[in-house]
Amino acid sequence: MSIDPQALWYINGRWVHPNAATIPITDVAVLRGYSLFESLRTYNRHPFHLREHLERLYRSAEHIELVLPFSRDEITDIVQQVIERNTYQHASLRILITGGQSTDGIIPDGLPTLSVLITPLGERDMERFARGVHLITTHLHREMPEAKTTSYISAIRALKEAARHDATDALFVNEHGHVLEGTRSNFFIFLDDLLITPRTGILLGVTRQVVLELARSHFKVEERPILLEELSEADEAFITGSSREITPVVRIDDRIIGTGQPGPRTYELEQRFIDMVERGDF
Ligand SMILES: Cc1ncc(COP(=O)(O)O)c(C=O)c1O
Repeated sequence: MSIDPQALWYINGRWVHPNAATIPITDVAVLRGYSLFESLRTYNRHPFHLREHLERLYRSAEHIELVLPFSRDEITDIVQQVIERNTYQHASLRILITGGQSTDGIIPDGLPTLSVLITPLGERDMERFARGVHLITTHLHREMPEAKTTSYISAIRALKEAARHDATDALFVNEHGHVLEGTRSNFFIFLDDLLITPRTGILLGVTRQVVLELARSHFKVEERPILLEELSEADEAFITGSSREITPVVRIDDRIIGTGQPGPRTYELEQRFIDMVERGDF
């Protein structure tokens, strides 16, 4: 994913190219990290589960006590316009809400701002499915994990730690030894034909929900904490997220998952996911 300088973005009421995309420095998003976002993608110019992403955006706003002066219909309309004004077949969309400008540097007295950014995406990287990824675990933690705020300091630190271990990403583990989620993804394991994923202490991913629905007709599903000790028994593991869809996990720290190769059940779910996307059934 890379920014196209010719893209047309909607930034707080204006249509601009990325190099002219600015918000005031006195916005509490910049000064205090008080802001929210949603990240989703389009397939063949259709947004994937936009309604669910907007539901989560409004839930996040409630969590951080930010009253949004835009309706779901207004945001939907702007998202559609962003897709139409750009030519990309597949793209990543970012809906960004900032807290607004502040005179005293902390309490916003201006209105929240809305921006919608779009970035072109290429075709699916099938190699990723075939290879799987190596993750590390980290005891860093996310503040207000249920809300999709732009506060990704622990995620960035965790990713730097992962890079030092030649790993792709990191899994947050809490003080009870529960494996929660990745820096930008949800986490699942298979114990035989039982699929397990946490439900609390995480961001409830839109992809997670879609994958659970695809899995239910085929596998037994449990939404409950995953213990660190269970990783050694897992036959398969994978992460889900809007941009990476389903990505098999083959190693976590020094533990090899299953055979060390992406497993058949994960492959089955990937196939179902890809079929659904190709049919445009979302
Ligand atoms: C912390 C976190 N968990 C999970 C997810 C996956 O959510 P979704 O499937 O809606 O992209 C994300 C997405 O960015 C995330 O940041």
